[in-house]
Amino acid sequence: MVSVSLEDLKAKIHQLEQQLQEDQVLDPQKLQTQYLGKRGLFNTLSKAIKHVSPQDKRVAGQLLNAFKTSLQTRLQQLSDQHQSTPWVDLTAPGIQPPAGHLHPISQAIEEISRIFAKIGFTRVRYPEVDWDYYAFESLNMPPNHPARDEWETFFVEGPVNKQYGKIVLTPHTSNGQVREMERLKGKPPIRMINIARCYRRQQDVTHTQMFHQFEGLVVDKGINIQHLKGTLDYFAQEFYGPGTKSRIRPFHFQFTEPSFEVDFSCHICHGTGQIGQRRCAFCKSGWHEVGGAGMVHPNVLKAGGIDSNQYTGFAFGWGVERTYTLREGLNIDDIRLLYSGDVRFLEQF
Ligand code: PHE
Repeated sequence: MVSVSLEDLKAKIHQLEQQLQEDQVLDPQKLQTQYLGKRGLFNTLSKAIKHVSPQDKRVAGQLLNAFKTSLQTRLQQLSDQHQSTPWVDLTAPGIQPPAGHLHPISQAIEEISRIFAKIGFTRVRYPEVDWDYYAFESLNMPPNHPARDEWETFFVEGPVNKQYGKIVLTPHTSNGQVREMERLKGKPPIRMINIARCYRRQQDVTHTQMFHQFEGLVVDKGINIQHLKGTLDYFAQEFYGPGTKSRIRPFHFQFTEPSFEVDFSCHICHGTGQIGQRRCAFCKSGWHEVGGAGMVHPNVLKAGGIDSNQYTGFAFGWGVERTYTLREGLNIDDIRLLYSGDVRFLEQF
């Protein structure tokens, strides 16, 4: 017969205690059965008492009783704890944190940059708070010239610079024209696309006080209106899809001569103004007016240190917001929504 010493018994008890520490409490009921059930670890262990020598039996019994009590207490504790912690399925897939994305206008800016990069335009950015000189004066609009009224400008209160005048929140990206000529030290070729924030004192469903414009400027030898028209057509097709056409109408700007307003054909009625028997509700005329353009005025070239006898250029510029919201299927009827910061709105783009 194998005999069991008190030492053996203590070692076994210790081993079980340890094991219980390491067990994962997924189901306290199971643990209860495993340790204290009829065929559980405790009962198996207590069978060893048969093999303890008679003089040690009493102490062995006490050891086992004490162990049983401590087991019961521990298992009860575990079961209480388990009930108070909510059940977690560790194998369930996690909850995806909401991922943000670029603002629709940032997406449009990136797209516009890419479209012009393909035909060799360099993306630049010039100050959005700039001198009156770059926003107006260098563009053939001397102080007090009535044409300035077109740009409902925010002037910044502050010291007036003798050479550059007051500080303005740029009302258009045309302030980049002479700045780009200066950057290139009056040496064409220039192929610039300037995309930046602009500010004007007006706000309604089609205007926000802060908006964005993109401004193209090309200066080189032999540049003419056909290059301008070709560039506009190219942009129209790339941005709105094949078949979209551009149209230029005579207009007036101080800094271009001749000057034009630019329209794009409506991609819903394909420039016809009609859908079946009905008038196209989107454009009403077949065309959408988008912005201004023209051949760079010699005085502007002169301000940028470029010899207007050798070089000519064209420029165009208009709003990113307007360009973007004209896209088919967008149906944004109030552009102020773009800057409302409402995630429910922005999530749709
Ligand atoms: N800066 C003009 C505007 O805001 C647009 C324009 C740009 C016109 C370049 C001609 C040439 O309205």
